[in-house]
Amino acid sequence: MTDIDRTVVVLGATGQQGGSVAAALRADGWAVRAVVRDPSGHRARSLSAAGVETVRGDLSDPESLRAAFTDAHGVFSVQPNTGQAGAVVTNEDEVRFGTTVADIAERCGVAHLVYSSTVAAGPTPTGVAHLDTKSRIEAHVRNLDIASTIIRPATFMETLVLPGMGLDRGRMSFLMRPDQTMQFIAVRDIGRIAAAVFGSPERYAGHTEEIAGDALTGKGLAGHLAQAVGRPISYGRLPTTLLEQDEALGGSAALVDSGRLVGRTNLDALRAEFPFLLRFDRWLAGPGARLLAEALRPTDTGIALR
Ligand SMILES: NC(=O)c1ccc[n+]([C@@H]2O[C@H](COP(=O)([O-])OP(=O)(O)OC[C@H]3O[C@@H](n4cnc5c(N)ncnc54)[C@H](OP(=O)(O)O)[C@@H]3O)[C@@H](O)[C@H]2O)c1
Repeated sequence: MTDIDRTVVVLGATGQQGGSVAAALRADGWAVRAVVRDPSGHRARSLSAAGVETVRGDLSDPESLRAAFTDAHGVFSVQPNTGQAGAVVTNEDEVRFGTTVADIAERCGVAHLVYSSTVAAGPTPTGVAHLDTKSRIEAHVRNLDIASTIIRPATFMETLVLPGMGLDRGRMSFLMRPDQTMQFIAVRDIGRIAAAVFGSPERYAGHTEEIAGDALTGKGLAGHLAQAVGRPISYGRLPTTLLEQDEALGGSAALVDSGRLVGRTNLDALRAEFPFLLRFDRWLAGPGARLLAEALRPTDTGIALR
């Protein structure tokens, strides 16, 4: 049996990253098993229709993870985070979920664990609790007796075109100042990179890879959006009052100023390794087109970032 005949378990497959990873693994010919909380939900049913095995499980239920990981070749690990809108987890939940997945993968004899972290992770704390959770999980993963790869995605392009961000009124706001640069990645490409990592364990096991597809200033971002929608879009940093009121956003903006959240990967080298990586303009014209259209619909809501 070659690796590709074996099963990779994907967590969060009904969400953005896990969904992208499941699709990319299937496209590469892997058998994919998704751990889902509700196998009868429409997202789980879409996965089944795409040839993904779905098994009921929960990150808070180690026994369900043990059952799902048994006989698996690989595990893709991602957890919900308190920085997400409407989050119902705590920081300690995220760390417990991430470390438990890794522990059980090790005990089940999984050959390759891929953990999706964040570009802000590192050996020293950022001081922003909802980002430091991932540094804690990373440290735990590295100490286990399991071949692992840690990918550190930059901020998702999907985060840039949420409804309620003002695009319908010709405005765009985000974390960086107009001339500050941040790196971004299309969720689609996280899946493709994860699939490439599972496909070449000899190359990627033991590695930590920061991943991104483009680097944009605030003004550059607005320029691409204006081009895509065919009318002017102005750019301003998120309002100071919002950054002061919202701990997660304020902490993230501070880390943009300190350089910790902007991403520093060598995009040319990464594109040579992963030629499919989308720049923002290509993403807007491709996988992002539907999200852009939704973000352009008139809305009364305030900024819906995260
Ligand atoms: N947004 C960014 O720019 C960015 C950048 C880097 C890293 N991140 C990180 O990305 C992570 C989120 O990834 P995402 O955007 O792919 O998530 P997402 O789209 O919000 O999906 C979350 C997934 O986790 C599943 N889930 C939630 N609680 C669960 C539980 N108790 N047991 C089993 N599954 C559970 C959800 O399943 P259900 O369908 O059952 O709800 C869903 O599949 C966060 O840790 C965030 O910090 C985000």
